[in-house]
Amino acid sequence: MIKVAVTGAAGRMGSGIIRRITQQDDMEVVAAIEIPNSPLAGKDAGLQAGIDELGIEIVGAEKLEETLKASGAEVLVDFTIAPAAVETIRIATSCGVNVVVGTTGFSDEQMAENIKNVKENNVGAVISSNMAIGVNVFFNTLKKLAPLLYDYDIEIIEAHHNQKKDAPSGTAMTAFEVIANELDRDPEEVGVYGRKGLVGKRTSEEIGVHAVRGGDIVGDHTVMFVGEGERLEVKHQAHTREVFIAGVIRAIRYVPAAEKGIVSSMNDVLGLE
Ligand SMILES: NC(=O)c1ccc[n+]([C@@H]2O[C@H](COP(=O)([O-])OP(=O)(O)OC[C@H]3O[C@@H](n4cnc5c(N)ncnc54)[C@H](O)[C@@H]3O)[C@@H](O)[C@H]2O)c1
Repeated sequence: MIKVAVTGAAGRMGSGIIRRITQQDDMEVVAAIEIPNSPLAGKDAGLQAGIDELGIEIVGAEKLEETLKASGAEVLVDFTIAPAAVETIRIATSCGVNVVVGTTGFSDEQMAENIKNVKENNVGAVISSNMAIGVNVFFNTLKKLAPLLYDYDIEIIEAHHNQKKDAPSGTAMTAFEVIANELDRDPEEVGVYGRKGLVGKRTSEEIGVHAVRGGDIVGDHTVMFVGEGERLEVKHQAHTREVFIAGVIRAIRYVPAAEKGIVSSMNDVLGLE
């Protein structure tokens, strides 16, 4: 049985992950963690997730280290917010716990710190801004299309629910980086995030990235390759959070035997090129 700790246990993703873990034969929830001094501390994690009692009490993140040690967790799954996740990853890796991280919105510095902690503590890690299987095929498709359509204007549009805190989405940024890398363009130079006012003519190098927020949209990503007289659009739409959770379950299974000290991608988890 893979022993799993979940941070953000009462969140939309965290509670869904707890529900799905309880349906697997080869893994179990051994710890459920919420924000420091959470008012939910002491509440049963199963009941909080809308299922039967699990016998695992939610604890506040101020007790993360002792909880990880006492629970014997082998994998920590984190879907929270970036600054909290950096600290959680630091503590979990220092306890020798493998990590599966879906939290988005890390700065370059925060991601560098995550990678350093994984390396220094020699644990397995999967960090991915989008764990949906179709999305990872979407990234692969972009990788193949970008060199073919290198002289087309490229624009990325993402849409998410009105509760999402970071923008553009981690998935949009990954799509942007995949394309920029394939085209040998400097991501710092070519990203244009929204446009307003007299912005001047579009350059052929720039890659536009635009964020739409509204209602209950789970996650849409469209990449437009626009040429003279035609355009090609590649679009992924997530209908339900369950698509991410299916990927999380695969990552939990993968990470205990993953190569230690490096951050694996969903490509590694899914065996994609
Ligand atoms: N990688 C993916 O496939 C994927 C898919 C969906 C969402 N996400 C990302 O996952 C994150 C969470 O999304 P959500 O919709 O579940 O958000 P949410 O706001 O519903 O849940 C986040 C939870 O984290 C808790 N939290 C905050 N700080 C904490 C800490 N220090 N320790 C423990 N818990 C803490 C909050 O109290 C909250 O319950 C976001 O960054 C989102 O972009 C990633």
